[in-house]
Amino acid sequence: MRYGLLLSSLLGLNGVLAAGKVPVGMEDALTTANMPAEFLEDVYFVNHVPLMALQADPRISYALYIPKDHYNPDPSKSATPKKLPLLVYVHGTGRSTVAIYDELVPFADSTPCAILAPLFPAGMDGPNDLDSYKELKSDTLRSDQALLQVLDQVAYRWPGLKMEKVFMMAFSGGGQFAHRFMYLYPEKLAAISIGAPGRPTFIDDTQNWPVGTKDVKTVFDKTIQPAVIGKLPIQLVVGGNDTVIHGDEAFWEWEKETFGGGGLPPMNKTRLESIKELRASWEELGIETQFDVVDGVAHNEKGVRSAVLGFLGPQIKKSY
Ligand SMILES: *[C@@H]1O[C@H](CO)[C@@H](O)[C@H](O)[C@H]1NC(C)=O
Ligand SMILES: *[C@@H]1O[C@H](CO)[C@@H](O)[C@H](O)[C@H]1NC(C)=O
Repeated sequence: MRYGLLLSSLLGLNGVLAAGKVPVGMEDALTTANMPAEFLEDVYFVNHVPLMALQADPRISYALYIPKDHYNPDPSKSATPKKLPLLVYVHGTGRSTVAIYDELVPFADSTPCAILAPLFPAGMDGPNDLDSYKELKSDTLRSDQALLQVLDQVAYRWPGLKMEKVFMMAFSGGGQFAHRFMYLYPEKLAAISIGAPGRPTFIDDTQNWPVGTKDVKTVFDKTIQPAVIGKLPIQLVVGGNDTVIHGDEAFWEWEKETFGGGGLPPMNKTRLESIKELRASWEELGIETQFDVVDGVAHNEKGVRSAVLGFLGPQIKKSY
């Protein structure tokens, strides 16, 4: 693992591979194009793909759902090489990816699209780590680069997936990851749904990451480009009753004493308030969003699901 990480950083790959390069650890990998198509199901390369480790950092894994009937294992051999769009589903703090096994299956089958659910376990930065993946950079993890590497690995094994730009949906802690990822890599995305991020990052040159974006050049060697982000179809979605602040004052005081002052600040606003602020701040920069407040729904991912799929579905269809 360390070797893989070291190697990828030495080579400056950062998950962004030039076409034709083999991703870290995939030198001997079977792909759906280099094996007999009739065995794809037998090796679990279609339908529900088992949680698979990222070769460059096996702490991270991903689940995939690829509707077999719509998947072309080797588009290079087809007269009309149609590739299946990919929807990336980023879990929240609870790390539940169960939706990829039930709720999202009919959507994937009918749209059609494949769904990728990366898994960033808690505890990667130590036994009490809960949030590291949301901030993109922590002591031992660059979750942004890890996702790019997952995408490279998936692109390599499944050449029938459309990987140049991917769709993304994410709620709560996942919404935190997703909007930060969008700030840095808008060119990797086709459209994005960001649900109820608790403690968002604002495009703000007066505060450092993860509150603002003053130091992104130093931290990520990136420049935020509102004009590029503004071209993306973006949905901000939240339950109309998402009006409870997670943890009370005593909790956040204890949290700060226990975990130290770095990273994300204490939560002192409701998610409904935060997302409205985020939306207004983006509007000032010319970043328009579709803003959906779902009546009667609290901080509940399933409660906003139909709004999310209603936004993404037509765009995924259009791209197929
Ligand atoms: C809420 O948190 C933000 C971010 O840390 C901080 O800037 C702000 O002053 C806080 N507001 C209150 C009322 O505590
Ligand atoms: C949502 O909030 C409104 C206004 O506060 C309240 O009247 C309503 O009962 C809430 N609905 C649910 C399902 O909690």
